[in-house]
Amino acid sequence: MTAAMSVPIARASLTPQEIESVLEPLRSGWLVQGPKVREFEQAWSAFTGAEHSIAVTSCTTGLYLSLAALGFGPGDEAIVPAFTWISTANVVEHLGGRVVFADIDLASFNIDPAGIEALITPRTKAILPVHLFGLAADMEAINAIAQRHDLWVVEDAACGFGATVQGRHVGTLGHTGCFSFHPRKAITTGEGGMITTNDANVAERLRRLRDHGAAMSDLQRHLGPRPFLLADHPEAGYNQRMTDLQAALGAAQMHRAASIVAERRALADRYDAAFADLDWLQTPEAPPGYGHGYQSYPCLFEPEQVRQAVMTGDQQQLNAVHERRNAWMEALQLQGVSTRPATHAVHMLSYYRDKYQLRPEQFPAAQAANDCSISLPLFHGMHADEQQHVIDVVRSRLA
Ligand SMILES: Cc1ncc(COP(=O)(O)O)c(C=O)c1O
Repeated sequence: MTAAMSVPIARASLTPQEIESVLEPLRSGWLVQGPKVREFEQAWSAFTGAEHSIAVTSCTTGLYLSLAALGFGPGDEAIVPAFTWISTANVVEHLGGRVVFADIDLASFNIDPAGIEALITPRTKAILPVHLFGLAADMEAINAIAQRHDLWVVEDAACGFGATVQGRHVGTLGHTGCFSFHPRKAITTGEGGMITTNDANVAERLRRLRDHGAAMSDLQRHLGPRPFLLADHPEAGYNQRMTDLQAALGAAQMHRAASIVAERRALADRYDAAFADLDWLQTPEAPPGYGHGYQSYPCLFEPEQVRQAVMTGDQQQLNAVHERRNAWMEALQLQGVSTRPATHAVHMLSYYRDKYQLRPEQFPAAQAANDCSISLPLFHGMHADEQQHVIDVVRSRLA
């Protein structure tokens, strides 16, 4: 074990050509949404199989615009998993809607479809399943519920790059899907997002909404017969356009999209093999027919004790595991291994807790995931000795 080694939770990995690609728009002078955004969108559609890809400023704005484009508005309810990044819920709030939390399944960390139907009311308009950490939610069950109740399905695929179900990429399974290009994601543009949809009308509305409501983009105008005339604006849209600098970086990375997914899967396979005999650590697993994208490597600490505590409602036991997990995270940090809780339980964050008068134990699996999950470092470009260091340090913990 190398004592001085320090392994980050994630590290952006860009080739010299990818870094160079950003200079192209700088040299051409076309900096805002233009030819590079179009190229990135086309590459994204080719990789995911989505008929339409619409680049935006972040996954969060993608989620917001998706709900807005579908017609979600004040007083409407949306079902959101309690364990996700806060923005899945925030966009519902921003549109004047009401967030209805659903509990998750501790095996996948994704929304548990078994709990969804009981949450549906006459005001429910949408379900926002999240494909956490690169593993698709149970879209077959979720889509069946949505169809029965005439609901929109907006996939939060922020972490979903490379995640598939029966060979179909996430983001093509609901009405829209939204991806993130934050640096902890497999493809990064610094900040940035992509909306995918197979519905041409929704795609057209999204393109307008991201661009001040304009009926025609600047690129279309410049390539058309009368570039000197401004477009009409049939609605009051937003400015959520991605820049061509960001898109150049994204498009350049898409040339090695398949190898990025393969590399991340190989890293996960190595962890799986190294930790297979540790009964105190649940490692991520893709059910048959699911392809994992491994945006991260989320584990559950002391899974037996956690499940028992969840089943019996034993808060003391859960808290004891939580304390041991925190102590272990600290020990890992001291040995140069950065970790994080996999994500947070949104119903436990003070805004949602106070507004909706929620208690942590109302969503016991989400609470347990919040308190007892741990993500280990995984990123393409990770060196073999870095991964070995993580393996050695993890395995050195006494059970
Ligand atoms: C599940 C989930 N949803 C939404 C987001 C927000 O993405 P962005 O930072 O691109 O807005 C994230 C970011 O980590 C996420 O993990």
